[in-house]
Amino acid sequence: MSQLNPNDKEYEEYKKEPSDYLEANKKMWNSLTEAHKNSNFYNVSQFKKDRNSLNAIEINEVGDVEGKSLLHLQCHFGMDTLSWANMGAEVTGMDMSDASIELAGELSKEIETPAKFVVSDVYSLRDNLQGEFDVVFTSYGAIGWLPDLNKWAEIVASYIKEGGFFYMVEFHPVIYMYEWGNNFALQYSYFNESSIVEEVEQSYTGDRHKQKQVSYSWNHSISEIINSLLAQGLQLEFFNEYEYSVYNCFPNLKEIEKGKFRFKPPYDKLPHTFSLKVRKPFSKKKISGRIEV
Ligand SMILES: C[S@@+](CC[C@H](N)C(=O)[O-])C[C@H]1O[C@@H](n2cnc3c(N)ncnc32)[C@H](O)[C@@H]1O
Repeated sequence: MSQLNPNDKEYEEYKKEPSDYLEANKKMWNSLTEAHKNSNFYNVSQFKKDRNSLNAIEINEVGDVEGKSLLHLQCHFGMDTLSWANMGAEVTGMDMSDASIELAGELSKEIETPAKFVVSDVYSLRDNLQGEFDVVFTSYGAIGWLPDLNKWAEIVASYIKEGGFFYMVEFHPVIYMYEWGNNFALQYSYFNESSIVEEVEQSYTGDRHKQKQVSYSWNHSISEIINSLLAQGLQLEFFNEYEYSVYNCFPNLKEIEKGKFRFKPPYDKLPHTFSLKVRKPFSKKKISGRIEV
């Protein structure tokens, strides 16, 4: 991955029409879907046997989903969504990549696990999906594709039933400050100052794009993330940070124990992952059992 030089004319071209970010990112994720389907990283054939691609962090922290309705935001091609379904949830997955959602539907049929999948940009989800859910879920590598977290949190909150919760597990924003190549330079702001425009030749799975792609992403600080959710009246139940990644998806990671990866020293000291859970409180009317005027 290489960042475009802000002094280049090309960079100015990319930055001219920031509304094009969706088109560019969609093109990239569609191009990635075919490669990811056949990648060792996603190991779809193993998934078809195990019927689970979730990791211990989210399984333990989300808890029992039996009989619960669950909305998975930015589900890619749905392996995690189908895993929740195999654990008893009634699932809906959404993603803006139509190629990903098509593949998710095929997988659902193939492993005979019912699921609903919706193609949509997060910000226009209300145009494409109605309803409320017991659990809203998003994970690893999702929010960095979204420029505005206040708008995102509004969408998230609108899909949680009263008494239900939103859970997320993500890569820690601190690791997104670095350029992960051999120089491991401290390159990007911790804060959401502007879009990061990159020319991408290769996926985090190691698979190459047929053509170079341009991607737009944003860094979001922990306070930006938490405050966007609190502003929606959601109540924080926990916030955790982890010293490892559950995926070997960045250069220079080393497996420290099975399924746990850390950057090589001295960057092993960085936080790698975080998770949080926020709950939507019941309205006063429901708590008291009286009709309040
Ligand atoms: C790294 S993947 C997320 C994988 C995730 N850990 C999972 O559950 O499998 C990021 C996904 O976000 C999707 N995405 C990016 N921007 C989006 C947007 N604005 N609206 C909806 N989906 C988006 C991409 O298409 C891609 O499938």
